[in-house]
Amino acid sequence: MRKEVVLITGANGEIGHGLIMHLRENENIQVLALDVQQLDPRLQPYCHRFIQGDILDSMLLGRLVAEYEIRTIYHLASILSTKAEYNPEAAHRVNVEGTLNLLRLAVEQARWQGRSVKFLYPSSIAAYGLPDLQTKEKVGKVKEYEWLNPTTMYGCNKLYCEQLGRYYTLFYRQLAADKDMHTIDFRAIRFPGLISAVTLPTGGTSDYGPEMIHHAAEGTPYECFVRPDTRLPFMVMPDAVKSLVDLWAAPRDSLNQLVYNVTSFSPTAEEFRNTVIKAFPDAEITFKPHESRQKIVDSWPAEINDSAACRDWGWKPEYDMQRAFEEYLIPKIRQRYQNE
Ligand code: SER
Repeated sequence: MRKEVVLITGANGEIGHGLIMHLRENENIQVLALDVQQLDPRLQPYCHRFIQGDILDSMLLGRLVAEYEIRTIYHLASILSTKAEYNPEAAHRVNVEGTLNLLRLAVEQARWQGRSVKFLYPSSIAAYGLPDLQTKEKVGKVKEYEWLNPTTMYGCNKLYCEQLGRYYTLFYRQLAADKDMHTIDFRAIRFPGLISAVTLPTGGTSDYGPEMIHHAAEGTPYECFVRPDTRLPFMVMPDAVKSLVDLWAAPRDSLNQLVYNVTSFSPTAEEFRNTVIKAFPDAEITFKPHESRQKIVDSWPAEINDSAACRDWGWKPEYDMQRAFEEYLIPKIRQRYQNE
């Protein structure tokens, strides 16, 4: 008998850390973790098995199909928006071809199992693209089907992979005589900037938020790469993990769409800085906007509309900005740097 597992790609990343720590509380879930980097030793005890490898390695993925019965895939591996701009074609390979490999693996698993395989996909606010700052200031809360003209390779990749998920769920091999009854059950969440107390993001453009607070706690000066008036939606990791797990659990019939916005609080960079300074009065945070990264952030909405998620699967963040800082970020980050 093949072992029943939940596959998590990008297991060593920010969301991977949060998700694996969360799933450990559920003893029935055996996590098969995959990452191109070594796994953080703190996560090791919570994984049934860790495999260091590349999602572009189809031989490796083929071996997983043979060995495991994969019921759910959380496909978290991705190259974030700033890093992707330094080598857009390489980012495309990882973000798109990697996702295609996982979708194919999911379909193959579904055929073996005679039931659909759930495929959870973190998409992003980067899927949106507003033409200029004036538009950003006047559009208000952006809905899932609005302003989908991303300006980054990462944003294009995320938007296209959402479409691939839709294709594999609804239309895969639609002309084949033996077309599959059992395909995948794709569910995507467009995340705002995420902030974790445990890890720092690598290569994102919303990173100024988490970087400000981690630098303050560490006692090192920080130059914020966007203007003080820059507004973006953010969310803390416990809410991000909760949204993934809640969407996973939602009955298929209640879902009217495959892709959902979620959001929590939308401060300006200055409001973010002021809140950090309140907790760490000695923190040195200055502003030195980076022209190109600023442009990327200016093309992302200041606020997003998550009413579809609220309606269809009861989404509600547990942390507003005050609670996020007071009960999660400040105490946990302080603890992290005190222990180092
Ligand atoms: N946090 C991501 C980035 O900045 C957006 O999804 O690239």
